[in-house]
Amino acid sequence: MNPVRLAIVGGGIIGRGHAGAIAEDPVAELVAVADPAPTGKALAEEMDVPLHADVQSMLATETIDGIIVSTPTEHHCEPTLAALQAGVHVLVEKPIMATLEEAGRVVEKSADTGIHVLVGHHRRYYPQVHKAREIVQTGTLGTLVAVTGQWNARKNDDYYDPDWRKKWEAGPVLTNLIHEIDTLRYICGEVESISAEVSSSVMEIEKEDAAAMVMRFQSGALGTFVLSDQTASPWAWEFA
Ligand SMILES: NC(=O)c1ccc[n+]([C@@H]2O[C@H](COP(=O)([O-])OP(=O)(O)OC[C@H]3O[C@@H](n4cnc5c(N)ncnc54)[C@H](O)[C@@H]3O)[C@@H](O)[C@H]2O)c1
Repeated sequence: MNPVRLAIVGGGIIGRGHAGAIAEDPVAELVAVADPAPTGKALAEEMDVPLHADVQSMLATETIDGIIVSTPTEHHCEPTLAALQAGVHVLVEKPIMATLEEAGRVVEKSADTGIHVLVGHHRRYYPQVHKAREIVQTGTLGTLVAVTGQWNARKNDDYYDPDWRKKWEAGPVLTNLIHEIDTLRYICGEVESISAEVSSSVMEIEKEDAAAMVMRFQSGALGTFVLSDQTASPWAWEFA
């Protein structure tokens, strides 16, 4: 079987991670990178694949089965829609899009074209998450009445050097909490309603520093969650 021909749109930190994973797996092959900046150029040179300034020129010239969209969140929509229009499957990094309106357009386009979009919620593939889901869903713990969680980290100050990370689209709610909400839905079922408060009391930039929320699951269970990218944490996925 021929390897699946993949291309990366956005060759920054996570795009580089995808390129490394593709290089290690014989079922896939990296065939191009699209990125207008020096980071993308460096990745294309390193991986010895053609570089394109944008997704449109890449789709027009390369033969591609799927693209990985790992651009800043505010730039997820255009390459995703362009690929769907061209009949190319998409793995888009989380969060799916910067706004609900954009997400709706992508879901609609995927349904219309029959071309797949997968969002990069990799924690669904962790063995611990599968086990937790099994324990909860089989009723091993009894009926789920309430669940509480937290995601906290003290991100390095230089993490916020790029301008796009200062905006609300790159704040911890869309960047980090989105993983935890996805995992909660996977383990505990769909969320029926949610209310939340956010604050920006530490860093004087657009993105939020903390959020606290209360939710009701469709099962009737209740949940609370606290998130911050400006505090220390008693645990982290990276240590699990
Ligand atoms: N799944 C995860 O756990 C995880 C982890 C980190 C980041 N992410 C997501 O990945 C995305 C990228 O994050 P990052 O940390 O790699 O950012 P980054 O700033 O390191 O890289 C983004 C790259 O995209 C390029 N770019 C910008 N606009 C572009 C465009 N229109 N077309 C093509 N390339 C463009 C930039 O030049 C840069 O090289 C974000 O949406 C983020 O939420 C996911």
